[in-house]
Amino acid sequence: MIKPLTLKKLHLPSNVWYAPLAGCSDYPFRRMSAKYKPGLMFTEMCKMEALVRKESSTYRFLDFDPSMHPIGAQLCGSDPKIAPTAAKIVEDLGFDVVDLNCGCPVDKVTKDGSGSALLKTLDKLFLILGEMVKSVAIPVTVKIRVGWDEKNLIHLKMVELAEAAGVTALTIHGRTREQGYRGFSNRDLIQEAVNHAKSIHIIGNGDIFDPLSAKDLLDRGCSGILVARGTMGKPWIHQEIVEALNEKKEFQVTPWLIKNTLLEHYQEIVHYESPRKALLSLRRVACWYLRDLQGAKQLRDLVNRSQTLEEMFHHLISFDFSSLTFENGDTESKKIGSFESESKCNAGL
Ligand SMILES: Cc1cc2nc3c(=O)[nH]c(=O)nc-3n(C[C@H](O)[C@H](O)[C@H](O)COP(=O)(O)O)c2cc1C
Repeated sequence: MIKPLTLKKLHLPSNVWYAPLAGCSDYPFRRMSAKYKPGLMFTEMCKMEALVRKESSTYRFLDFDPSMHPIGAQLCGSDPKIAPTAAKIVEDLGFDVVDLNCGCPVDKVTKDGSGSALLKTLDKLFLILGEMVKSVAIPVTVKIRVGWDEKNLIHLKMVELAEAAGVTALTIHGRTREQGYRGFSNRDLIQEAVNHAKSIHIIGNGDIFDPLSAKDLLDRGCSGILVARGTMGKPWIHQEIVEALNEKKEFQVTPWLIKNTLLEHYQEIVHYESPRKALLSLRRVACWYLRDLQGAKQLRDLVNRSQTLEEMFHHLISFDFSSLTFENGDTESKKIGSFESESKCNAGL
């Protein structure tokens, strides 16, 4: 069920990919992801204009090391004149794939016509994709939501448009822009796109948090799947899915695995960021790892209140992880709950 996937000349060892996550899928996150060998991973989105202007802060989003291959960079922008230059920069930096973001719902991004606003200007989107495809030899992919709102679903039109533009894979998040993260990702719409596709790979995205939800999307005929929130604090999810679906065995997630992986992630962040940034980033990241554990509230509080990295490290290393247990309860509500607690973590609550 989990199998290799070829995009043009690029051979991917697995069809389970890790998503672009702005503010999250940074270099330390991707170092951790690489240990579990997803088929492809992405940088967080970066603005085409900033890349072309050679802004160093934007180039930092694109830092990667050899362990992270195969890796794609995601571009965000809406200018067909800039898109090919930006795509070529990505290729020259050594990326394996270049992706165009057509899903970001945030006003700051959509107000200049980028992100999910491109779903309303399909002629322009076609131009952008065509220019990107012409400018690079690496596969060009595009990531969309199913439409701006439910009255304007464009998933089937997008299949035709992306195929005509020469795009290699189309990732579909089964929510509309209007939906934000409410409700569920509509897998029936993703399946419709799969059935409509002639030459393009359809990659299913939305609400994949475990092997069962991964299997459901693959059963619907997707060439691959893209895991997003499910990778936060669970860099092993690729291995968990592969072991469950291919080898019929259960990947053991224990409090020890969580502790050790969190401590490794701690080291990655401390090596990469300034102490101040590392402290802020770690408060968030630790929260991801600890969110599904009963009895971890005290540790979460200690981590959030730590004023120095040394203090935080002391709390993490000395906490008795053997006292923790996993939350019980209905899987779906647990997942939704996880995302809510994720928002609280991000808000520093
Ligand atoms: C914190 C956060 C940051 C995100 N950043 C990006 C991004 O940079 N580019 C993008 O295409 N999608 C981004 N997304 C959307 C995800 O890649 C994915 O499409 C969405 O979360 C649905 O998948 P999921 O249900 O598996 O999380 C982001 C989502 C979250 C929660």
